[in-house]
Amino acid sequence: MAGYHVVLVHFPIALWMTATLAILWRALSDGALAKAIDRALVPLLVVGLISGLAAYAVGLMVWPWETISSTPLGRNHVLLATWTVAYWTLLLATRWIQGEAVWDGVMRWVMAGLAILGSALLGITGTLGGHLVGIYTEVSEALRFFGWEVYTTFYVPTLTLAAIGAATVLLIGLGIWGRAPQRSAG
Ligand code: HEM
Repeated sequence: MAGYHVVLVHFPIALWMTATLAILWRALSDGALAKAIDRALVPLLVVGLISGLAAYAVGLMVWPWETISSTPLGRNHVLLATWTVAYWTLLLATRWIQGEAVWDGVMRWVMAGLAILGSALLGITGTLGGHLVGIYTEVSEALRFFGWEVYTTFYVPTLTLAAIGAATVLLIGLGIWGRAPQRSAG
């Protein structure tokens, strides 16, 4: 199964990285090309999600659960993979439900921020997968620099929880601010 997982992970990685570029392009431009790219975004995110779920499901079959869940690195890889898939599901739902309104006002910058965060999670998931097979990159050095040693189980310290709480309030505030012009216009 390891071979299948390695082959399969390339699809969500390529598709979600392409989606990140598409979102950044549309956030920065209202041109005809950016709008055409945006029309392909929902199908792109749907195919990305299907391939991500397939990579995830096959990932569960590579090693016995007792094995992958008994090492910090294994647990971290599964945790980050779960976040990544959940995160891109949310981005797909947002664009699908809200339609082109996601590019109105400040919402486009929220989309750009979410896309950057989503590709960071994807990158960390891939990095940890690499560590599982003995391929190391500078990404784990960067994570160490920010205080997370990837060979120790990731946990959320109180300060981080506070930062997440602050970010949540900030994002809700941005959302309310982003809706305000629509309300007065409508
Ligand atoms: C979309 C989610 C996932 C992505 C993007 C991803 C990515 C990766 C990558 C890039 C590698 C390194 C492959 C290589 O270079 O040989 C890897 C390895 C691995 N992943 Fe994942 N992974 C995902 C989900 C999962 C899940 C959910 C599990 C298990 C519950 C898992 C278990 C493993 C294992 C056991 C390896 C080592 C494979 C080996 O021994 O050859 N992965 N993953």
